[in-house]
Amino acid sequence: MLVKIPSVLNKEQVSEIKSIMLQADWTDGNVTAGYQSSQAKNNLQIPENSESARKLGDMILLALSRNNQFLSAALPNKIFPPLFNCYQGGHAFGTHVDNAIRQVPGTPVKVRTDLSMTLFISEPDEYEGGELVIEDTYGSQSIKFEAGDMVLYPSTSLHRVTPVTKGRRLASFFWLQSMVPSDERRSILYNMDMAIQALRQNLNDSPEIVQLTGVYHNLLRQWGQV
Ligand code: NI
Repeated sequence: MLVKIPSVLNKEQVSEIKSIMLQADWTDGNVTAGYQSSQAKNNLQIPENSESARKLGDMILLALSRNNQFLSAALPNKIFPPLFNCYQGGHAFGTHVDNAIRQVPGTPVKVRTDLSMTLFISEPDEYEGGELVIEDTYGSQSIKFEAGDMVLYPSTSLHRVTPVTKGRRLASFFWLQSMVPSDERRSILYNMDMAIQALRQNLNDSPEIVQLTGVYHNLLRQWGQV
């Protein structure tokens, strides 16, 4: 399931993050790539242990911790600290799959990458190309969202970033380990939660809604791993 999470950041937060990114030190994006993806990757990244990356990452994680749609769709268990990249002057990232397990730098914590995220920091009209193309169950999807919007997609998907032929594409990208590793089960829970929330707005808490909420939590109890 591929989910758009709109307005993770408001425009003020986007411009604050962008100005910090523009002042940061950058390095070759291959520092976090595995062998296969390093053959395909050509972009810049803010070093993951830098002060800028930590500060920016904390801003994003705080915003996500308050985003109900994200929490419902991802059911996050462990989130890898956000990384930041820049594509310009023909930079691209060919078709690859993200590493299955990532160790958080400087810690013994390992994160299984169930979901991949890209949070757009540049507006779509600031660059040409730079689409994130994701091979989904239903074919390939080309993603280029407004600044502040995020896409959440299964890390099992092959994906690529098309060459940025003009301007600069800034984004944050990272991964998470979900409490529900199966994409199929996670999608069922997400759809059910969305339906219950919509019903609750129209009907308040009828006994049936309370019962459905119980079913949701019982499924999560069956499928969730913490
Ligand atoms: Ni990737």
